[in-house]
Amino acid sequence: MKNTYKILMVCLGNICRSPLAEGVLKRLIQDKGLTHLIEVDSAGTAAYHVGKIPDIRSREVAQRNGFQLEHRGRQLIHQDLIEFDLILVMDEENLKNTRNLALNQSELERIKLITDFDLGKDKSTNVEDPYWGDQRDFDRVYAQLNSCCQGLLTYLESEVFQQ
Ligand code: 4NP
Repeated sequence: MKNTYKILMVCLGNICRSPLAEGVLKRLIQDKGLTHLIEVDSAGTAAYHVGKIPDIRSREVAQRNGFQLEHRGRQLIHQDLIEFDLILVMDEENLKNTRNLALNQSELERIKLITDFDLGKDKSTNVEDPYWGDQRDFDRVYAQLNSCCQGLLTYLESEVFQQ
């Protein structure tokens, strides 16, 4: 029997948003002592940055907030939709591209926008791509991801781990 709940963060390049989302969620999981229950990984819909470390600006905001990003870029594959319990995409373009890989309803149902879990009052649909922006855009992405991941953990604690 599988004994961990697996979450995959997905963006376009897998160097800016999704590795940061992975790091944010891992830190929150660690703070709550839930590392034995949840695994987190990330991937990109494109193969532009396979094998690369995260963008310096994502690493910078992570470091400033007390954690490191260990991820190496990889492309999303169909097998991910089988292996992961929840696939959280950053924007509607990622949603379309990830859904295009799904072969059945069960796979489709596990793909969600990460912002669905945002309980903050400034909730928006997309975590906007900061790649062409500056450090302030990455700081905004971090704050948004933190809000989404806190809502996600509240959901997991009440809906998934209570069963
Ligand atoms: P990400 O950002 O999807 O948040 O990792 C991007 C990274 C690289 C590119 C686009 C978006 N790129 O075009 O190379």
